[in-house]
Amino acid sequence: MSLFRIFILVLLSPLLVTATVLYVPVLLVGVVIYMLRVLDTRGRVSGTAYEPLQVRLIYHLRGTRPDPVALELTRHLPATSWGFAPVVMTPFVWICKLFPGLLRYPPPKPATFTDMMGVRCKLIDDALEEHVANGDQVVLLGAGWDVRGYDRPADQAVPWFEVDTAATQAVKRAAVDAAGLDTSGITYVTCNLTEQAWLEALHGQGFDRTRRTFVIWEGVSMYLNDDAIAATLRAVVTLPAGSRVAFDLLTRQWLNTKAGLAAGRSVSGFYGEPWTWGLELDGRLKPTLDAYVEAQGLTVDRAWPLGIESDNVPAIGAVVLAAVPKG
Ligand SMILES: C[S@@+](CC[C@H](N)C(=O)[O-])C[C@H]1O[C@@H](n2cnc3c(N)ncnc32)[C@H](O)[C@@H]1O
Repeated sequence: MSLFRIFILVLLSPLLVTATVLYVPVLLVGVVIYMLRVLDTRGRVSGTAYEPLQVRLIYHLRGTRPDPVALELTRHLPATSWGFAPVVMTPFVWICKLFPGLLRYPPPKPATFTDMMGVRCKLIDDALEEHVANGDQVVLLGAGWDVRGYDRPADQAVPWFEVDTAATQAVKRAAVDAAGLDTSGITYVTCNLTEQAWLEALHGQGFDRTRRTFVIWEGVSMYLNDDAIAATLRAVVTLPAGSRVAFDLLTRQWLNTKAGLAAGRSVSGFYGEPWTWGLELDGRLKPTLDAYVEAQGLTVDRAWPLGIESDNVPAIGAVVLAAVPKG
């Protein structure tokens, strides 16, 4: 830092201290309001859906991944609303600017646990671009507060299906309406993936089983169980060759580490949504993942591992793009 900058900082420091002292109570009030509103619908409406939205919002506010629609939706969701981005998100953006290693977008390789959302975003955004260019239909399973389908340019309009549990989807639709977002081409379908097959839920809703499809299944596998996960992936196999599903997973071995247990406890403690599933590693991540995906009838097209595994340290998880093979 140059002497001139230090001089300016010293001159401004009383102002900075006063602004911080005045701002901290406002920030705390913002955080408490957020927490109370999430707790108000805990167990009915997904609270974890706010987490990826907040990370995408940070990318937007940092200017690394523009997402003005996410900002618009944030202003109309019950737990966030108008003041949330300026009051609560701003300090996180500053922290990320001060420590550029945090919440990097695009994410680095190898990626850490905190890069997980970035890896998800990047892999899905890239694959989505390829599918939309082909005119494929898109299905979001456990759509949460994802806004990739809204305000799309006319030349990128493809049939779009958002699937989620009824209560969460109702909250999103109300927020989308209040925000005045363009929903043309979007069909909303309710389905609980542990109780119903998603293809069955889409039946009669305009979904074309003979058309190539991109299924986005982001941030959901850890909340389900073996049967629901296998059923979800096996349904993709019945779609035309070239259809793909993007999903992320954590490993059972990492969930059982100190870090995994602590992260899992904090998610389930606050949101009431426990991490119930992790991929059981049989040796290293890559062969386990290949074998698991192939056992469901798909092939791994791309996989982005999380963490650096060794003989003593399990891989954290991965973000996967799996494809329906030809023939
Ligand atoms: C962590 S959020 C991810 C939301 C969104 N995919 C994203 O990445 O922004 C998990 C989402 O999965 C949905 N979900 C969880 N369990 C589900 C189930 N059994 N059936 C359908 N959706 C489920 C939740 O409602 C929520 O929208």
